[in-house]
Amino acid sequence: MKILGIESSCDETAAAVVEDGRRVLSEVVRSQIDIHRRFGGPVPEIASRSHLEVILPVIEEALERAALRPDQIDALAVTHRPGLIGALLVGLAAAKAFALALDRPLIGIDHVAAHIYGAGMDDPNPPEPPYVALVVSGGHTSLFLLSDPLAPVSIGRTADDAAGEAFDKVASILGLGYPGGPAIERAAQGGDPARFRFKPPLLSPQGIDFSFSGIKTAVLYRVTGRNSRREPLPLSKENVRDVAASFQEAVVDGLVQASFRAVEANRARALVVGGGCAANTRLRQRLEQEAKDRSIRLLLPSRSRSTDNAVMIAGLGYHQYQRRGADDLSLDAYPS
Ligand code: KG4
Ligand code: ZN
Repeated sequence: MKILGIESSCDETAAAVVEDGRRVLSEVVRSQIDIHRRFGGPVPEIASRSHLEVILPVIEEALERAALRPDQIDALAVTHRPGLIGALLVGLAAAKAFALALDRPLIGIDHVAAHIYGAGMDDPNPPEPPYVALVVSGGHTSLFLLSDPLAPVSIGRTADDAAGEAFDKVASILGLGYPGGPAIERAAQGGDPARFRFKPPLLSPQGIDFSFSGIKTAVLYRVTGRNSRREPLPLSKENVRDVAASFQEAVVDGLVQASFRAVEANRARALVVGGGCAANTRLRQRLEQEAKDRSIRLLLPSRSRSTDNAVMIAGLGYHQYQRRGADDLSLDAYPS
C-alpha cells in the first residue's frame, strides 16, 4: 500500500511516499527557516501563506521522485493536529482535494504520535511494549507511555515552554540567530559545560515534568547582570561558548534524567526519542551512554528525520489505516 504523507503543522512543508509503513519511495521537505529568520521564530500568518505557495510543488516533487502518477497512490495521510491552525489547514485541504479527486482514503495523523513512530521506523524490529517515548521539539516536550503503539498515553509534560523554544530564546539572548537548537549546539563546541551551573529544567527535582522558564531567565540574568549583584557578562566568543555549553548540558541533563526515571517507573525496556531536538549531538550521546549502562533499548531517528517530515506521517498512516480505517472528508484541524 503506497501512502502519500503530507505535513504542514509548523514551518516545514513536506510530502513523502511510503510503502507499507516502512519503505520510503520519496521524501521532500521545504523548510521556511530562511523566511522566518528575521523575525526570530515562525510567524503563523506567514507560515500559512508559504505553505500555500509550495504545497502543490512539494507534493508533485514527491510523486515525481517516487516515479508515480497521482492515481497510483493508495491513500493520503495528513497531519491534522497539533500545530499552527492556519498551517495545518493548508496540508489538510490539499490532502482532502487529492482524496476526493482520486477517490482514495484520507487518514488524519497526530503529529506527536508520528514523531514517536518515525523514531523507530528505520529499525526492522519495533520496540516491545510497554515503552517510553520522549518527544522534544519546538512545540512539544513530553513523555509518553506506549502499551499500544497507536495510543501514546501522556505521562509527563512541560509546564511552560518546549525545549526547542528554550534553545531558540537562549540563542537569541546570546546573539546566535535562529533556529536556536543548531546554533547553540555549534556555539557550545569546545565550551566548558561546568562553568555556569544552570539547574536542569525539571518542575520538581525527582519528577518527570519539565519547566523551561527558570533556565531561560537564569541565562538572561547571568548575561545581563539583572537581578544580581554581578556585572553584565560580555558576549565574548569564550563566554558565549561556555554559556551555550552550560545551558545545553543542563537541558540535556533534565531530559535524560526524566526519561530514564519514566522508563524505570514503568518497567519499560525501550526508550524512543523523537522531535527536532533529538538531532542534538550532546543529547544523543548522553542518551546512548545511559541506555547502554542500564541495558535499555534506545531508538533514535536519524538527524534529518528528527525534525518535521512527511515520512513519519505516511509511515504511521499505514498502521492507523490497518487498525482504524479512514477518516471522512469532514476531518478537521486542531491546534492542540
Ligand atoms: O520537530 P520540529 O522540526 O518542529 C516541531 O514540531 O516543533 O522541531 C524544531 C525544533 C526547533 O526549536 C529547533 O531549534 C530544534 O528543534 N532543534 C534542535 C536541534 N536541531 C533542531 N535543538 C537542539 N539541537 C539541535 N541540533
Ligand atoms: Zn515536530
